[in-house]
Parts: sequence; structure tokens; C-alpha cells
Amino acid sequence: MKTIEDLGDLAGQRVLVRSDLNVPIKDEVIGDDGRIRASLPTLVKLAKAGAKVIVTAHLGRPKGEPNPKYTLAPVAKRLGELLQPEGITVRFASDVTGDAAQTAVQDLDEGEVLLLENVRYDPREESKDEAERGALADELAALADVFVSDGFGVVHRKQASVYDVARKLPHAAGGLVLAEVDVLKKLTEDPARPYVVVLGGAKVSDKLAVIDNLIAKADKLLIGGGMVFTFLKAQGHEVGKSLLEDDQLDVVRGYLKDAGDKIVLPTDIVVAPEFKADSPATVVAADAIPADQLGLDIGPESGKAFAAEVAAAKTVFWNGPMGVFEMAAFAGGTKAVAQALTEVDGLSVVGGGDSAAAVRQLGFADDAFGHISTGGGASLEYLEGKELPGLAVLEED
Ligand code: 3PG
Repeated sequence: MKTIEDLGDLAGQRVLVRSDLNVPIKDEVIGDDGRIRASLPTLVKLAKAGAKVIVTAHLGRPKGEPNPKYTLAPVAKRLGELLQPEGITVRFASDVTGDAAQTAVQDLDEGEVLLLENVRYDPREESKDEAERGALADELAALADVFVSDGFGVVHRKQASVYDVARKLPHAAGGLVLAEVDVLKKLTEDPARPYVVVLGGAKVSDKLAVIDNLIAKADKLLIGGGMVFTFLKAQGHEVGKSLLEDDQLDVVRGYLKDAGDKIVLPTDIVVAPEFKADSPATVVAADAIPADQLGLDIGPESGKAFAAEVAAAKTVFWNGPMGVFEMAAFAGGTKAVAQALTEVDGLSVVGGGDSAAAVRQLGFADDAFGHISTGGGASLEYLEGKELPGLAVLEED
């Protein structure tokens, strides 16, 4: 994979960078700016090399049409604040490749950064039709001389600004993509043992392929979050009003049968009558969830047990919160796992937007962990052993 250094002298060159700036935004306020921060080193490096830096990125899923709810304008503002101490000016173009983008590129000075509007406003970005994606990629490529792929969180997407544009311009992987791949390689190629994987989040169906792959590789698979109820139900327990994926029960039964004691489930659960921050919470045994309650976190005994497994590991990968961490009453499990990750004597990796947001919201510092990945789906697909189009294309000449 070529690096930025392989692109030669970039002074005066127009460099198109695909970043992943997909951050949570509510009422125009950015919740966790981790992905913007993670994108800075590459942008600074290029700007300091005298390049005209043109950034393309997405926000949310606007489904191929402009929608002010998904504008990147607040991200441009935040980027400007973060790059100001470096003396780097950030501009914003109000369209993807149209008149505004073209004029802004013409006016861009060396050492400046221009963020283009949400590339997913253009339906061709996510089109399944290669020719359609190719047409958008041509327009993006026409804005630049070279392409740097630095949006690790999107390299699992075969999209115009990730995949097709790399085929139209001399290209390289940015430092963020290289660093993420380096860590994920350590997890897949001969990880130091014990290797413990902690999976949470709402849906089993999102995690099936990774569970399938990791049952063979990991020493322990700790399961929490909303998906745990499908596991408990598969064991024959009632789960009350908890989240349940009935159509996955057979698959999960298969995992429980194949995995022996590798799969560790919680023994207690924090339940409440309603999905509400002030709904009265109680702790019950995992095999005794009342019919009129729903599980919203793993219980304290399970939190301790999970933490002990994690703290004793030499390699840990964690994806997905253990409970509804946004509500204080249901944050205990996620907190216990996060705390244990900070105590790992080895490599600890937090993967995914939700888990990254969780550790920051719960007050942990980024550097307390070995690595916080910017890629949720991308890191999971990497661990599933899938070929990621946005990485594969960078191997091409
Ligand atoms: C993410 O949030 O995981 C990435 O930005 C990719 O977004 P997507 O799942 O909407 O493609």
C-alpha cells in the first residue's frame, strides 16, 4: 500500500482526501468529535507540505439527496477550530462537486483545507451501478491531482468517494488508515493470549459474521448489550420485554453448542419496566427476567466477572456497549468493561463509533486504551476476514 511519502512533493498539488467525519450531531451540536480529531494528523501533514487539501466525507444517511439535517457545515466549523492552532484555514463548499466546489477549489491556497458538502447528497455515491459511481468519481477526481484514502470507518463501503475515485487518481493510504490496519492485523495474526473479545450493542444480526469468525480465534467471547437477550432466550430463559431477535435463535443456539465455554453470558441483568432514564431499575438473575420488565444493562456481578476476564487478557477487542450507557442507571456494565480495558497489560482495542463515544462520555481519556478505532462496521468486517473494497483498491497501481 502506498503512503503519502510515495506521492512525492505535494507542494501546490491538489490532494483529495476521503476522511470519515461521520460524528453524532444533535441540534447542530457535535456529540463526540473523536473522528474529526483522528482525521487531523493527515490533514495537517498535507497542509504543511504545501498541498491544497480537499476533503470529501459523509454524514449520516441522507439517501442521495440534500437535506440540511445532514449538512457537514458544523463539522467544517469544528475542523476550523481544531486546525486554527496550526494556522490552517478551513473552507467549506456548499455542494459536492458542483459550481460551489469547483470555485472553492480554484480559490484554494496552498496549505489550506476545503471540506466539500456531504458526498451522500449525491445518489451516485452509494449506487450499485459502477458507471454511476464512476461518473461521480470522475467529477471528484477532476477537482484534484492525487487521492489520499484516510477514512478508515468507510473502507468497507464500495462507494464512489472511497473506492472508485482511487482508480482515477494516483493514490495512497493516509496515516489513519495505516494505523488502524496495523492494529487490526495484530488482532488477527497471532494475537497474544489470552485473547478476549467483548461484544455488545443492540443486534445479534449485525455481529453474526464476526462471532462466527472469532469463536475459532478468541479464547473468550463475552456477550452483553441488547443482543444478549437472544442468547438468554436461546438457552431457554424468558426475557420479558427485552430486545429479542427471534429469527436468530437457531443460529445462536448453534454458537452456544459449538463454542463450549468460550461464550460467557451475564449472570445478572439490570431491568426496568420502561426504556426511560428514570424508570425504576432493579437487578435480577439472568434466568429470572420478569415478564413486564426489559433488560437495559448487564448486572453488577456480571460487570465484575467480565472485568476480571478482560483485565487478565493480553489482547482485548471490544465492540458495542453493555447497556444503555447514555442513561446513568444503565451505564454500570459499560463502565466496568471500559475500566477493565484500561488495566490490560497488553493490547486493548475499542472498536466502533458507539463504544468510542461511550468511553469518552463516561469520562475515560483516549490514551487510557491501546487504540480507539474510528471504524465500527469497518473494523468488524476486517475481523470477519472479509476483503474491504476501500483497502483492496489501494493495493492496485
Ligand atoms: C460509520 O459510522 O461506521 C461509518 O461512518 C460508515 O457509515 P455507514 O455505516 O453509514 O456507511
